Amino acid sequence: METGQVKHHQEDGFKFEPPRKNVTWLVCDMIEKPSRVAQLMGEWLIRGWAKETIFNLKLPMKGRYDEVLQDIENLKIFLIENKVKFKLQAKHLYHDREEITVHIQVLSNISPH
Ligand SMILES: C[S@@+](CC[C@H](N)C(=O)[O-])C[C@H]1O[C@@H](n2cnc3c(N)ncnc32)[C@H](O)[C@@H]1O
Repeated sequence: METGQVKHHQEDGFKFEPPRKNVTWLVCDMIEKPSRVAQLMGEWLIRGWAKETIFNLKLPMKGRYDEVLQDIENLKIFLIENKVKFKLQAKHLYHDREEITVHIQVLSNISPH
């Protein structure tokens, strides 16, 4: 894991706060409830901790698509309410049957808070 380019922090991804708040890419592939992951991604983006993110939302056993689509809608609303301009793409990739992959790019210049 430690390659010189990668620093491994053995911490809970939901509690981790990046030491430098100017991350370009936030990549997240945690096995967790999709609503929790979507909320976490939103928090990083509204705080200005990251500019762009790609993450997977695992399809739950029940509700499947509907729940994940709602989680993505809630994330959009959260970003809009916090005045973040963004581009969002979501795809169910052929080789990843159990998850939806989401990419968000922040378009607005937001100051960290
Ligand atoms: C699908 S795997 C990710 C594999 C990774 N993309 C790779 O290529 O090696 C999910 C990972 O999420 C980690 N994980 C789940 N919940 C976590 C949390 N709260 N904090 C940190 N890691 C977590 C698990 O330990 C597991 O290694």
